[in-house]
Amino acid sequence: MRQSIRFYLGNVRHEIPAFSPTRTVLDWLREDKRRTGTKEGCNEGDCGACTVLVVRLEGDKLVWRAVNACIQFLWMLDGAQLFTVEDLRSPEGALHPVQQAMVELHGAQCGFCTPGFVMSMVAYCKTPGASMEEDAINTALAGNLCRCTGYAPSCGP
Ligand code: FES
Ligand code: FES
Repeated sequence: MRQSIRFYLGNVRHEIPAFSPTRTVLDWLREDKRRTGTKEGCNEGDCGACTVLVVRLEGDKLVWRAVNACIQFLWMLDGAQLFTVEDLRSPEGALHPVQQAMVELHGAQCGFCTPGFVMSMVAYCKTPGASMEEDAINTALAGNLCRCTGYAPSCGP
């Protein structure tokens, strides 16, 4: 068991007094906080369904990173701010522009991978100087896999 850690989930401060050192951020989010928008796919860092945002102060800058919650241990959040897909809506309920674009451009099919894609895109938008070239965006999303759509239709027999 570790001693307590402190971090923010969204804008709410959390202090967790004791927990298993192998407790993952994904299990804590889904089981303890019922934040089930963060999905469990592979549970080994390959699919991106569990992508969340972790923000840290580095020097005098806030650095936003998209991370796989299934391979982050809870203790790694100490001193950070964590955002899940549930945090993206405005207080008035409006979707984040990335979510709105996904709706308007039919960016999802079954939706299982969608929160992870959205979180990776939000992190990319927060990256200073991020290129809007297609290759750069594809690279930024390379860790997110969609199993049910996104493939070109076959030409048939
Ligand atoms: S569930 Fe975390 S990367 Fe697949
Ligand atoms: S929309 Fe179904 S897995 Fe991506």
